[in-house]
Amino acid sequence: MKQDIYLDNSATTKPSPEAVQAVVECMEEIYGNPSSVHRKGLEAARAVNRAREAVADQLKVDAKKVTFTSGGTESNNLAIKGAASSYSNRGKHIITTAIEHPAVRNVCRDLAEDGFEITYLTVDEMGIIQVSELAEALREDTILVSIMYVNNETGSVQPLDKIAGVIKRAKKDGKLPLWHVDAVQALGRLPVLPTKMGMDLVSFSGHKVHGPKGIGALYVGTGVSLRPQIVGGGQEGDLRSGTENVPGIAGFGAAVRGLVKGEGTAAEHMASLRKLLVEGVLNGITGCRLNGPPPGNIGAAPHIANISFNGVRGEVLVHWLENEGIYASTGSACSSRKQVEHSVLKSLGLSEGEAEGALRFSFSPENTVEEVKVVVRKLKEGVEELRSFAKMQ
Ligand SMILES: Cc1ncc(COP(=O)(O)O)c(C=O)c1O
Repeated sequence: MKQDIYLDNSATTKPSPEAVQAVVECMEEIYGNPSSVHRKGLEAARAVNRAREAVADQLKVDAKKVTFTSGGTESNNLAIKGAASSYSNRGKHIITTAIEHPAVRNVCRDLAEDGFEITYLTVDEMGIIQVSELAEALREDTILVSIMYVNNETGSVQPLDKIAGVIKRAKKDGKLPLWHVDAVQALGRLPVLPTKMGMDLVSFSGHKVHGPKGIGALYVGTGVSLRPQIVGGGQEGDLRSGTENVPGIAGFGAAVRGLVKGEGTAAEHMASLRKLLVEGVLNGITGCRLNGPPPGNIGAAPHIANISFNGVRGEVLVHWLENEGIYASTGSACSSRKQVEHSVLKSLGLSEGEAEGALRFSFSPENTVEEVKVVVRKLKEGVEELRSFAKMQ
């Protein structure tokens, strides 16, 4: 039987045994409502608080700053819409980038329809913004800057320390701008330290870090006021109503606790796998292009590699690989089953054909050198077969 080689960890990760155990425990035993005043309720409230502490510990922030949501999408919605609504009396200008996840991009699109003005920062061929463009775009009425940490399609990492410097200077000059960071693809892979890094709002998702799906968190910094987007019973400090998803929260907390063990070495391991894959493909298969920063570049995330294979349709190659027990994807998970316009890859300067032939490989700390060697070998075989098949058409 063929072995499964799972290289689609940016779409979702396999839940850790600790996360699964925590979910099961909350389904079977800790099933109270955290708002109930009896023992069952207190047990559930304690499970929620333990998870909040785990996330806060990872971020090195006060637990009160962590709000649980239903995932990265909701965290982004709450951060951006919540800030836009709260600070619209200070201005209606928002700055973001051309390569954000749809959970940021489409929120900004909707806000534009509601009278907000959105500036989209461009990116270079590696998917990185120019910090000078951000500095020029900042205005008196800029209330929010939303720039992601790691891009989910290309793995490009934005220069966060320089961005923080520009925003800090703007704040010193009396401007408002809050800084929201979609760190969904960064948690557990690169350091995410909101206070130290000068971030005001940071989004996370449980299922990208070996936790359950349908759970996420938003870090909300000191002095930041957000208008809740889901109102009701006032849970999560009134920021996000609804009975807490206790199993999801506990599973997320357990998964995050597991990340603490290996962040540094895990990142190095994944970076070495990425290098092996990229070099193996670029040196071994003609007509390929890496979309994003090369291995060793400061803008390269350790765990995501996006490669275009000329003359091959990405989707066809995904299925060819699947038959070999290898799982990759054509782009971001939420868009890969729809007809998409490849807006992120085109922002890096790719042609339609190059974008069509792009595949994303995303690693977890569990992947091995042997697996990557198999993938490189199989890719060569698959690409050659599909190219010769295309020639016969
Ligand atoms: C960068 C980024 N932001 C947000 C999300 C949405 O997260 P969730 O699936 O938890 O809603 C994703 C998921 O792919 C992502 O990659």
